[in-house]
Amino acid sequence: MENNITAANLRSAHGGESMAYQRYRVWGERARSDGFPNVGRLFDAIAYAERVHAANHFGQLKDVAGDFNVNAMAGFGLGSTSENLQGAIAGENYEIEQMYPAFMAVAELQNEKYAHRVFKWAWEAEKIHSKLFSDAKAKVDQGQDIDADPVQICSVCGYTELGEAPDVCPICGAKKDKFVEF
Ligand SMILES: [Fe+2]
Ligand SMILES: [Fe+2]
Repeated sequence: MENNITAANLRSAHGGESMAYQRYRVWGERARSDGFPNVGRLFDAIAYAERVHAANHFGQLKDVAGDFNVNAMAGFGLGSTSENLQGAIAGENYEIEQMYPAFMAVAELQNEKYAHRVFKWAWEAEKIHSKLFSDAKAKVDQGQDIDADPVQICSVCGYTELGEAPDVCPICGAKKDKFVEF
């Protein structure tokens, strides 16, 4: 990994995913205090998926050590659980529609195939997160909790599934024992 634009994009994605982790933990606490324990569980599980993404991006940068200023998109605001879910959907959709497609395109141009792979893994997982948060918001807006118990996260790529863990991760191919249950 050179200190090229892809390295800057990895640092930015590491920052963005790290902040998403913290935001989702706070929003999970709020969901529990609002009376939606399974939405709280979903936030905690997806927080862990974002941590997996952050760690994967960080791991690509072991040859580009040093201190850097990092610019990353960060959503702010602590509202009701419905408002927090709307913030989560907006953040996921920014990553799905803009951030990761742009970062993947640059990584491909720069022939950074391992960076491209971790961006792609995150992009695939974020599409699932957006759908899960949208489904959760629809329930919460009717005053109901979701049925998400348990939630499974692939510790290699952040793939997220409700219920039983799959035998093989559909994004990265990891085996069932790599899944963490929430
Ligand atoms: Fe996500
Ligand atoms: Fe995976």
